Amino acid sequence: MREKKLASKSSGQKADFVVVANRLPVDRVINSDGSVDWRTSPGGLVTALEPVMRAQNGAWVGWHGAPDEKLEPFNNNGLELVPVELSTHEIAEYYEGFSNATLWPLYHDVVAHPKFHREWWVEYKKVNQRFAERTAEVADTNAVVWVQDYQLSLVPQMLRDLRPDLRIGFFLHIPFPPPELYRQLPWRNSILRGMLGADIVGFQLPGGANNFCELVRRQLKLPVQRHEVTMPDDRRVLARAYPISIDAQGFAELAASAPVQERAAQIRRDLGNPSTLVLGIDRLDYTKGLRQRLRAFGELVSEGALSPSDSVFLQVANPSRERVEEYRRLRDDIDMLVGRLNGNVGTIGHPPITYLHTSYPREEMAAMYVAADVMMVTPLRDGMNLVAKEFVASRTDNTGALVLSEFAGAARELKQAYLVNPYDIDGMKEGLMTAIQDSPAAKTKRMKAMRKHVFEHDINHWADEVLRDLGADL
Ligand code: F6P
Repeated sequence: MREKKLASKSSGQKADFVVVANRLPVDRVINSDGSVDWRTSPGGLVTALEPVMRAQNGAWVGWHGAPDEKLEPFNNNGLELVPVELSTHEIAEYYEGFSNATLWPLYHDVVAHPKFHREWWVEYKKVNQRFAERTAEVADTNAVVWVQDYQLSLVPQMLRDLRPDLRIGFFLHIPFPPPELYRQLPWRNSILRGMLGADIVGFQLPGGANNFCELVRRQLKLPVQRHEVTMPDDRRVLARAYPISIDAQGFAELAASAPVQERAAQIRRDLGNPSTLVLGIDRLDYTKGLRQRLRAFGELVSEGALSPSDSVFLQVANPSRERVEEYRRLRDDIDMLVGRLNGNVGTIGHPPITYLHTSYPREEMAAMYVAADVMMVTPLRDGMNLVAKEFVASRTDNTGALVLSEFAGAARELKQAYLVNPYDIDGMKEGLMTAIQDSPAAKTKRMKAMRKHVFEHDINHWADEVLRDLGADL
């Protein structure tokens, strides 16, 4: 990734590279004593984009995570941040409603029922317009603007209407569904047109790009050739896959550092030095397959394949979208399931599942990756899943095993993982046991191959490919 230094823009100076995402990379948190803290925002989008932004030195437009507060642009830890305000009502209807109770389940194979409410659509349009306007204010003439994810699908066209001089990219971090599912959406054509406002539309996998092209052909009757859509005014839009990645080198260095190695050893001691430590780290989301994974582990312990006094499952679930009904229900289900499994198969001082409903900084996550014997990443559907790549990057000594769902985008690249179908509990049990029992040499061979791939296809590779296609001279 090429580096470019610009003067600070908090002064009101315009930016020639702008990222637009629903969230800023930091959330504003108000403590009980009234003081304000900034905390890293949840999710893979921020993990991936933060290093790109640091290298490009542009501006980041996004919501700061708190309701009903209008903030001025500011510099946080070297990043130029441009906050977009959302009211309590808009958070409920644009973010929790249309984004996360309509589009999110629809795009993830309808593993939960998408809800279609016309009022939510009204708020979604209104908020997308605000993001477009704020971006139009901060982008310099001919700037490159990179719009992120499903919450902002209408922004590319809205922004083009306001600022035809800009080069606009759009990247979808989650899956893009097959036409049969997508066509349920009452506002299907408007969303397609919104995305087509970009010069390039990026997806995690070729399948998502194909679904999009097929829909553009069928729904909008636009010609598409070799992933290039020709718009009525002859403008060309490129729709293709750019699989996202991580700062592999940065993660490996962090994982190899003395404090992280010491912390990893401490985690194992705190868990009773088990012979098998299985790890899961996810946002608490119904797409992540937590129920299925816990059931598979619980059955292995109750059947005696794994010893309850010598095997630990450490599951970290980062709090997420807690006011959305499906997420509340999921939390209750997982609380109950963990309680039941520990109650059924635990022994004194040895509850086999350690469940932590909280978020941790990068250093602590790296220590957990280093401490684990097996990492389980078993979503029912996932755009990519960067936790899988972080685990691989952290295993600097080529040990450890990754059990990975076939339905995670990462499975297309990490082919040497122990691949499982999360809907098949017996298959998952088998996959986990193989990952535990395989010889160290077999595990090392797999890990080496995965590490090679992740280091060759890291976040710089991803950003360079997108920015090259965007014609960004940064
Ligand atoms: O990766 C998908 C995504 O929805 C991102 O757009 C988002 O930043 C992340 O997950 C976390 O979700 P949320 O912002 O709703 O907490």
